[in-house]
Amino acid sequence: MSTTQKVAVITGANRGLGFEASRQLAKKGFLVVLTSRDEAKGKAAAEQLQAEGLNVIFHLLDVTNNESSQKLAEFIHQEFGKLDVLVNNAAIYIDSQADGNSVFDAKVDTLRQTMENDYVNAGYRITI
Ligand SMILES: NC(=O)c1ccc[n+]([C@@H]2O[C@H](COP(=O)([O-])OP(=O)(O)OC[C@H]3O[C@@H](n4cnc5c(N)ncnc54)[C@H](OP(=O)(O)O)[C@@H]3O)[C@@H](O)[C@H]2O)c1
Repeated sequence: MSTTQKVAVITGANRGLGFEASRQLAKKGFLVVLTSRDEAKGKAAAEQLQAEGLNVIFHLLDVTNNESSQKLAEFIHQEFGKLDVLVNNAAIYIDSQADGNSVFDAKVDTLRQTMENDYVNAGYRITI
């Protein structure tokens, strides 16, 4: 699937800002690899953008999982041999009702899990 188009990977793109960033980059002519940790949600999101006539494909990616990041890197390398843009959008805030509604009420464990997901373990490992 070699391409002369610029290739963009977006993490956590099945909803929210990642989904809209996928749409906007595809509208600008990028071939967008829309990734999601949930296969069904990711495929549905990619299909929605394909139905809008956009060049978007789905690939599974959990940014906290090394094997998952490696599989995506291999896919990008084999299919395109390049990556022009990486939008590392995926993130969580594990907000629990038990913690209250304000970040100032959050428990230390909640904040620790969030930091580990978003910063410590997150997939800055996509080496093409
Ligand atoms: N919205 C704002 O006002 C705002 C402001 C400042 C910064 N941001 C940042 O912008 C980014 C997107 O915000 P948003 O409001 O669009 O967030 P969102 O609606 O909560 O979406 C977060 C996305 O990240 C995915 N995700 C979470 N953990 C993941 C993991 N381990 N592997 C792969 N995907 C994972 C989620 O997947 P699931 O659907 O499976 O949960 C979801 O697709 C975040 O980094 C956020 O911190 C947002």
